[in-house]
Amino acid sequence: MQKIDFRSDTSTHPTPAMRDAIYSAKVGDDMLGEDPTVNELEDLAAHLLGKEAALLVSSGTMGNLVSILSHSQRGDEIIIGNKSHIFRGENSGASTLGGISINVIPNKENGELDHTDIINSIKPPQSINCPSTSMVSIENTQNACGGAVLSTEYTNSISRLAKDNNIKLHLDGARIFNASVYLDIPVSKLTSAADSITFCLSKGLSCPIGSIICGDKEFIAKARYWRKTLGGAMRQSGIVAASGIVALNSMIDRLQDDHENAQLLAKGLKDIPGIEIDPEKLPTNLVFFNLLVDNPQIISDELNKIGIKGGKPDKRWRFVTHSDISSEDIYFALNSISDIMKKYYKLT
Ligand SMILES: Cc1ncc(COP(=O)(O)O)c(C=O)c1O
Repeated sequence: MQKIDFRSDTSTHPTPAMRDAIYSAKVGDDMLGEDPTVNELEDLAAHLLGKEAALLVSSGTMGNLVSILSHSQRGDEIIIGNKSHIFRGENSGASTLGGISINVIPNKENGELDHTDIINSIKPPQSINCPSTSMVSIENTQNACGGAVLSTEYTNSISRLAKDNNIKLHLDGARIFNASVYLDIPVSKLTSAADSITFCLSKGLSCPIGSIICGDKEFIAKARYWRKTLGGAMRQSGIVAASGIVALNSMIDRLQDDHENAQLLAKGLKDIPGIEIDPEKLPTNLVFFNLLVDNPQIISDELNKIGIKGGKPDKRWRFVTHSDISSEDIYFALNSISDIMKKYYKLT
């Protein structure tokens, strides 16, 4: 049976080249800074993103939390978007573990945070009545805004705003390479103005594990401390880093295939009665659409029976394209969805 997993780009499997690299990786004790493969990956990542240093962590969630803890003191406040993954999907670690409060402002439809909203949310420094604002975080691509891409100009303008107000800018760049490929610019143009960036190796780049934090040397030294505090310092983690090196050297440009497959999927879905989607609003690999039918879970269950994973009881679905999904898979999925819609809902 065909297996097509639309649930996330986290479902990607390591490529044969990654498995070879993992098998033959030279390793050492990374907690002592002695794993040559981790050191190579961190140097490569820092160089690509235009930063002084980098740190391998286990996940995007850990990367964001370590970054927040490194920029903040207990009792501080951070500004994030209401559609940000940090707010919606990371268990409020900054508050529960770090004693840091979260000031949530609305994300615009295009993923941006409004400059005035940010400025109005920054607390006066050294007030005895309120916490100090330590940082603002933006997300690129912005997952819950349909994989929206933030521009270099926007990122730079938020960086200036942050500097003018003496706060830090964190960039949750879990899918930052999707943004740079979409814009056809070096990733460093999107990252160099941020004080810290997290990006994921384990999503479209297809590694089994891992995310990277980048920043200046002083920030990464603090991040190393917080990673250890959270139990995230690993030992012979060259096993993890080896696939990351393959990813950064050979898996970035192919993200364009995922974007093209996302467009193929979106345009096909648009032609199926009972589905509402605007392909123009889907720049990267995250395909959001609405099912205008009762009990969409039926469709998900039927797809599952033929090896297609994705969908949920709600009417708003997200399908994600990635390296384990080909254009043939997209055509097969579109035909299957169309058949199921006709069978259960008599929509033609
Ligand atoms: C934008 C964004 N940031 C962070 C994360 C967290 O990454 P992880 O699942 O590796 O913790 C995700 C996961 O989907 C994400 O979409």
